[in-house]
Amino acid sequence: MSEKVRKNKSIKAWVTQHVNDSYVNQAQKDGFRSRAAYKLIELDEQDRIFNGVNIVVDLGCAPGSWSQIALAKIPANGIVIGVDLLEIQPLSGLKFIHGDFTEQTTLDALLETINQRQVDLVISDMAPNLSGIKQVDQSREAYLVELVFDFAKEHLKVGGHCLIKVFHGYEFDNLVKQARELFTQVVIRKPSASRSKSSETYLLCKGKKLV
Ligand SMILES: C[S@@+](CC[C@H](N)C(=O)[O-])C[C@H]1O[C@@H](n2cnc3c(N)ncnc32)[C@H](O)[C@@H]1O
Repeated sequence: MSEKVRKNKSIKAWVTQHVNDSYVNQAQKDGFRSRAAYKLIELDEQDRIFNGVNIVVDLGCAPGSWSQIALAKIPANGIVIGVDLLEIQPLSGLKFIHGDFTEQTTLDALLETINQRQVDLVISDMAPNLSGIKQVDQSREAYLVELVFDFAKEHLKVGGHCLIKVFHGYEFDNLVKQARELFTQVVIRKPSASRSKSSETYLLCKGKKLV
C-alpha cells in the first residue's frame, strides 16, 4: 500500500470515528466548541477544581471549550486568559493571547495580562503536533509540562491548583515527581471522554506548596 493511500485511509478512519463519537455529537448539542469539554466537566465534578477560583489561565485553549467552562464557573468579576498557537473564534469574556507558550513574547503578553496578580488555577490541555515518533512526541510534551510547572512556580498562588495533560511515556514518572515537589497532592486522572487508546492522562496537582 502506498504512503498516500495509507494516509487517506487513516484520515477516513478518523473522520468516521469523529462523526460516530457520542461526545462530539453531545458537544454540538450543548454548544461546546469541542468534545474536550466533557473531560474538564468530569474532572471538576470529581475534584471541584473551580471552587473559590477567580483567575484562570487556560494553556492550549483552542478551539475554546475549556475556556467556555471556566468562564461559566468563575464569578462575573473573574478572569480567564487563554493562550494558543492557533487563532480561535472570539469568545465573550475570554482574554485570548495568540502565541506559542514556549516563546518569551507569549509569556510576556500573558504576564502583562495577569498584571502582577497571582493565578488561582492553571489548566493546560496543550499537546504538541505529533511527529509519530514516540520518543520525540513524549519529549516535546514533557517540555511543555515543565514550562507549565515553571509558570506555576512563579505565578500560581500558594494553595492554587493545576490541571495538566501529560502523555504516559518514559518521561511520565519524572513529571509526576516534579509535580509532587511543587504540590501537596498529585493525582492521575483519565476522564471517560479521553479516548482509551490515547496515552493522554491528566495530572491534577492540588495545593501549591510555599516553595
Ligand atoms: C487538545 S487541544 C486543546 C483543546 C481545548 N482544551 C478545548 O477545550 O477546546 C490542544 C491545543 O494545544 C495547543 N498548543 C500546543 N502547543 C502549544 C504551544 N506551544 N503554545 C500554545 N498552544 C499550544 C494546540 O494549538 C491545540 O489547540
